[in-house]
Amino acid sequence: MDKMWVKGGAILNGQVKTSGAKNSALPIIFSSLLAEGKHVFFNVPDLLDISSTRNLLESLNCKTKYENSTLTVEVSYLNEPLAHYDYVRKMRASILCLGPLLARYKKAQVSLPGGCAIGSRPVNMHIEGMQGLGAQVEIKEGYIYASTPEGLRGATVLFDLPTVGGTENIMMAAVLAEGTTVIENAAKEPEIVDLANYLIKMGAKVQGAGTGVITIQGVKKLNPAEHTIIPDRIEAGTLLLAGAITGGDVTVLDCDPSDIEPLIIKLKESGFDIEVGESSVRVLPCASWRGVDIMTAPHPAFPTDLQAQFMALMTQAQGTSLINESVFENRFMHVQELTRMSANITPKTKVAVVRGNKGGLIGAPVMATDLRASACLVLAGLVAVGETVVSRIYHLDRGYEGLEKKLASLGANIKRVSE
Ligand code: EPZ
Repeated sequence: MDKMWVKGGAILNGQVKTSGAKNSALPIIFSSLLAEGKHVFFNVPDLLDISSTRNLLESLNCKTKYENSTLTVEVSYLNEPLAHYDYVRKMRASILCLGPLLARYKKAQVSLPGGCAIGSRPVNMHIEGMQGLGAQVEIKEGYIYASTPEGLRGATVLFDLPTVGGTENIMMAAVLAEGTTVIENAAKEPEIVDLANYLIKMGAKVQGAGTGVITIQGVKKLNPAEHTIIPDRIEAGTLLLAGAITGGDVTVLDCDPSDIEPLIIKLKESGFDIEVGESSVRVLPCASWRGVDIMTAPHPAFPTDLQAQFMALMTQAQGTSLINESVFENRFMHVQELTRMSANITPKTKVAVVRGNKGGLIGAPVMATDLRASACLVLAGLVAVGETVVSRIYHLDRGYEGLEKKLASLGANIKRVSE
């Protein structure tokens, strides 16, 4: 297993480009199951999760080809809509094939995704939504058995929480349902809008994506299309934080500044000067910054996927910050690893109290526990005194395309080492 070696002290300067958004590419690639034929996706990041998605699609009688960030998916008719545990256990987002398979084949057998480090990650709202559209669903031996012999029927689906994956799954089921579906309390993330845009290109009738109410008129058939995946806002935020934490001057290119508005606001509140361009964001050098409180919540609030990375920044702040993680029940595993680096953090249940101490991080061997915790530890290593070695960075490779190359291009002293 690879590790990431980082030597602290370099100040990052320069420009760096984001890749396509993992959390947009995944649902969009699964939506190709809704229409036979050749789908072409541009700006697809080269990630472990993309390879996992390709493997699952190939097990569903699809052919895929990936080169130069372009993914082609040839979808053929499927006799047995079965998403096997061996594939689903490698990537929880595989649950997103449930909606398309059920809509297209009127039945689906999809392995229940396991939990993961950051929380139990139930899919009850996905299942209740499918039942709302008329599907019979049974859970047996670790699988979801869903069927709707007469086809799905449009209905109003109300989510208790604005679930991103649940919204995406119901959208992909509803586009071929008979009649109108209204999703109430829908997730509003930019990735939802990107998925809606691709469904519309395939011929679906979707309105309201990006708001809390999405209305879908079912159609009989969809056709394959082409699409460019939006930039990854979480990677953009992570790269901006790498510049900020080292007191550097970093411009992140090919991003949509409005997608990381909450981060920009909090960085300014903390004392950073930020320049926003049409498709770029620049953080200017800052010698010292204040601790600020954040609370993660569904978009457009501060994204939970930037919580760990922001916490790394707050370990270097003047003063204390309260980091409130309201989305997932166990997304503080990076706290213990930061503590090994001498950070002063007190984790409560949903809130971590971070007492900033600039220059106080000491390099240490640490372990990545999940995707965004890995990024947090790399950022901490950039400013820690001495060397930090982050193990289990396969977590990082799930969601960041060549992060060490991007950081090294900005002047970071970082390299991947094989164990
Ligand atoms: C998506 O996960 C993202 N993953 C996550 O990114 C992101 O953290 C999350 O949305 C929140 O923004 C992808 O898009 C592939 P949710 P998802 O359904 O869809 C609870 C990353 O680092 N819930 O919005 O699984 C759930 O437990 C990953 O890139 C239910 O209780 O998130 C959580 O507490 C991590 N029942 C909350 O809702 C359900 O049926 C939000 O989950 C579904 C969710």
